[in-house]
Amino acid sequence: MTRPPIPSGPRATSTSVQSGDIVLGVFAPELVGIIAITRDARTKRRHKADLHGMYVVPDHRGKGLGKLLLVQALQLARGMDGLEEIQLIVAAHNHEARGLYERFGFVLVWTELNALKVGAHYVDAHHMILAFEGRRHHGSDDVAGRASKGPSETAHG
Ligand SMILES: CC(C)(COP(=O)(O)OP(=O)(O)OC[C@H]1O[C@@H](n2cnc3c(N)ncnc32)[C@H](O)[C@@H]1OP(=O)(O)O)[C@@H](O)C(=O)NCCC(=O)NCCS
Repeated sequence: MTRPPIPSGPRATSTSVQSGDIVLGVFAPELVGIIAITRDARTKRRHKADLHGMYVVPDHRGKGLGKLLLVQALQLARGMDGLEEIQLIVAAHNHEARGLYERFGFVLVWTELNALKVGAHYVDAHHMILAFEGRRHHGSDDVAGRASKGPSETAHG
């Protein structure tokens, strides 16, 4: 019986900390896991980046590859000059992924109701943020209040 090859650690497929684009892959030897962090290019949004596209193929899940990808991607992101926070969106029913993000310090900011519509079925989405040390909030109290309640409660409530 042949044993499946052991995946190599995450390596960059196309990464530029300077431009704010990180794409990491895990290979065994084909691509079995991926993660991306993309910094917002607009001047007034350059303190933020999006984490997206995190995926490990089913046969390789539960072996720590997701954590490895997160550790390395976040380490690279911390090297981006002026980057203050990383945001992501995860389906509300994806408890495994949410738990993983929380263990890395991401916090739930608000939940978007009916974010996706798949046929007749709606999916809610959690918006989560990881704030780097030293990041400060300079907004007004009004903005802070709305952010903690979430747009769905203020816009429609
Ligand atoms: C989320 C995902 C990337 C995690 O990848 P992974 O390689 O399985 O993750 P890890 O092996 O590093 O495990 C990370 C944590 O997930 C949890 N986990 C992993 N496998 C699990 C399983 N079979 N059942 C329940 N929890 C599990 C564990 O809590 C683990 O943390 P712990 O070891 O500290 O307890 C992977 O499940 C996946 O690709 N899912 C589908 C796509 C997806 O949901 N992406 C995120 C979209 S925002």
